Amino acid sequence: MIKKSDEKNVKIKTGVVGWPISHSLSPRLHGYWLDKYNISGEYLAYAVKPEALGDFLKSLPEKKIIGVNLTVPHKEIVLPFLDEIDEVARRIGAVNTIIVQKDGRLFGRNTDGYGFLTNLKAYAATWSSQAGPAVIIGAGGAARAAIVSLLDDGISEIRLINRTRARAEKLAEIYHDPRIIVCDWQDRSKILRDSALLVNTTSLGMKGQPPLDIDLSELPGTAVVYDIVYNPLETALLKQARLRGNICVDGLGMLLYQAAPAFQSWFGQAVDVDQKLRQYIIGGL
Ligand code: ATR
Repeated sequence: MIKKSDEKNVKIKTGVVGWPISHSLSPRLHGYWLDKYNISGEYLAYAVKPEALGDFLKSLPEKKIIGVNLTVPHKEIVLPFLDEIDEVARRIGAVNTIIVQKDGRLFGRNTDGYGFLTNLKAYAATWSSQAGPAVIIGAGGAARAAIVSLLDDGISEIRLINRTRARAEKLAEIYHDPRIIVCDWQDRSKILRDSALLVNTTSLGMKGQPPLDIDLSELPGTAVVYDIVYNPLETALLKQARLRGNICVDGLGMLLYQAAPAFQSWFGQAVDVDQKLRQYIIGGL
């Protein structure tokens, strides 16, 4: 690891690649850790159009960039440009972290599932995969990260529900696991019965989007409600859950926890996710 005190114009270069990229919180987040651990590094935002992604990634070794995060719309379309991906990324079908190897080969990982589960366990200490069925709303990339991490954690049942049922069925087919049960969108309130976890992986509830329309009256009082949206921090779903006494988990922690293993793989430094960091990131929302 290169400390700032060793600095002779040597900076470890990393960043995040997206289109658009101006709203990304990742530079603020990684910048916080670079400062905190006194590491001579940079983490920039790279605005790269989808059609330019392959050329941009090829140029990483000559630009001396040792790794990047990927965000919308690159996480899935990046796969053909990588030399190797890890098992979890293959199963999620997406990569959010690239590590440029010494020989220039590009290695892809996915830390979103890790971020999803670590955040859940950090904020809902009483929850475990043994607590009962999980209801997952949505069938996009975020849903895949949630599904893979819960299956790997030993969940007994996932009730998967999506406005477009065919997309949920496609996921059930890919994972081919009897624990995944696809349900109808109109049954989304009914299937909360006996569940221990409700997860919104859609963009519903995000600033500028309509709220997730769901009736929580069948949801057990002991169940955890987890919204991966973090802007606003308290969505209408979480407010509804909090008012009836459910444990609530917002999406900001997922963003923080997914970044930690990426940072460690580039800079060789294990990092803390704590309240001070969370407050600092909230200041950038
Ligand atoms: P991501 O990769 O971030 O998960 P995505 O692949 O665009 O994003 O998926 C978005 C999810 O939000 C999908 O499950 C989508 O449902 P459809 O498959 O039916 O499109 C869901 N979603 C978005 N807007 C929605 C809405 N107004 N009502 C219900 N679901 C919605």
